[in-house]
Amino acid sequence: MTDFKKSVVYQIYPKSFCDSNHDGLGDLQGVIGKLDYIKELGVDYIWMTPFFVSPQNDNGYDVEDYYHIDPRYGTMEDFERLVHEADQRGIRLMLDMVFNHTSSRHEWFRKALAGDEKYKKYYIFKKGKEQGKAPTNWESKFGGSAWEYVPGMDEYYLHLFDVSQPDLNWDNEEVRLELQKVIRFWMEKGVKGFRFDVVNLVSKGEFADDEEGDGRKFYTDGPNIHRYLKELNAQSFGKDAEIVTVGEMSSTSLENCFQYAGEDSGELSMVFSFHHLKVDFMGNEKWVLVPADFMKLKKILFDWQAGMEKHNAWNAVFWCNHDQPRVVSRFGREGKYWKESAKMLATVIHGMRGTPYIYQGEEIGMTNAGFHDISQYRDVESLNHFRILQEKGLTQEDAYRILQVHSRDNGRTPMQWNADKNGGFTDGGPWIEVNGNYKDINAAQQMGDEDSIFRYYQKLVSLRKEYDIIAYGSFQALDERNPSVLAYMREYEGQKLVVVCNFYEKERNWKCPVGLWGYRCLLGNYKDRKMEVGEEATLRPYEAMILYKER
Ligand code: GLC
Repeated sequence: MTDFKKSVVYQIYPKSFCDSNHDGLGDLQGVIGKLDYIKELGVDYIWMTPFFVSPQNDNGYDVEDYYHIDPRYGTMEDFERLVHEADQRGIRLMLDMVFNHTSSRHEWFRKALAGDEKYKKYYIFKKGKEQGKAPTNWESKFGGSAWEYVPGMDEYYLHLFDVSQPDLNWDNEEVRLELQKVIRFWMEKGVKGFRFDVVNLVSKGEFADDEEGDGRKFYTDGPNIHRYLKELNAQSFGKDAEIVTVGEMSSTSLENCFQYAGEDSGELSMVFSFHHLKVDFMGNEKWVLVPADFMKLKKILFDWQAGMEKHNAWNAVFWCNHDQPRVVSRFGREGKYWKESAKMLATVIHGMRGTPYIYQGEEIGMTNAGFHDISQYRDVESLNHFRILQEKGLTQEDAYRILQVHSRDNGRTPMQWNADKNGGFTDGGPWIEVNGNYKDINAAQQMGDEDSIFRYYQKLVSLRKEYDIIAYGSFQALDERNPSVLAYMREYEGQKLVVVCNFYEKERNWKCPVGLWGYRCLLGNYKDRKMEVGEEATLRPYEAMILYKER
């Protein structure tokens, strides 16, 4: 049995991974063709973002049919082959369950709109407050009101995301039974893991105006959430002890995560939280330009590491996914220190307590898209906010500057496989432009270079398997007030591990608060680092080290 505490997960966004049939969209056969590459990295699981039938308004997070593969991605036979081929390589599949909402094209919603009372209760329909006013002032996470008026009904339906993503009503038991069925269906196909999309938003509380915010306090970590997750667990994936689950927790609290991912709480194996990825926001406002706050980043990471450990709960640890800009562009340094900073950031995550997730392309240091024209963008959230920012009075140029930093499309440009046309992603016309730097940054080049970012990730993955301390050790923050160094210690059965990372270009003398005598360097991002380090170390630009002492 694979122990998820020793595992590493690789995330695939199939649309942008590899196209096997020349239509410019990635597909399941494309993934099959790259399994050897993924195996080479050494990971245990592949998390695939949704490939179910969908109108693709939100790239598959708008599901029209949970039981069928969208023909654009392939067939059920392709999927079964993928499970089999992955299994042959010791890799398990984790699927993405989008259960907070469906697509407005889902049969349930169509029936609801046609007036079928049973299916109306699958969703959240409410009367408006007064003529022309929505039931509450809640905002959609993609911009605008979270309510859409249906003239024929004289009612509104709730959509926390796009208007084409109506929220399901989890307070209706029939809905919960339907969703359990979906999980059991995929379990029978041999799926060994599930990621639950924005799952802490499914239990809605009071429907009231939010005087201070956008409404999230009424539905985030809502009143029945723990009960619903325990039920889902007991009725579906909990029946197979080998299944690993991760919940995507939007704007959650540490206290709730103790329960979501507590060892004995019977909910989920682990959680994604996002507070550390808001250190370049203004509060919850993403569409602004604010420099990343390093001290805040450290504090959040450390609080979650220590807090979850104290309560015997488990984190998913990560920088990147399909909703985030590329980390090397965000907290690292493109250009001169591209390689050093990408490796340094990887070290931070892979030395931590939790299950690391690597998002496609992160392992080769892919960078932000650099799009400068709205016609290059595809993401519904980015397109909405480009308009909203200008409605608020920003110039087009300022709106572009913000999109270039925060757009989700930064993480969605095609995987850069080699120096051929379109980076080897497709020989058709790619659905979204390939990053112009694919000739310099690509997997083929890095596979052939022992010093590459890819090879470094590979070492990090294998260290977790080799050293129990990385998987099971306790966590302790070091030198918390240091304004440029992030450091921590792990301990396990008398062994000690120190991870130290210089987040900046400036060289630093670093004195480890616990002393470094007797430690040896297991891995570092500068080749010439001597194995023995003394009490003090000079950290070069973006230098990172993992130091280890047996007893
Ligand atoms: C999650 C997904 C994101 C999607 C949203 C709505 O945050 O990761 O891509 O747009 O949920 O389903």
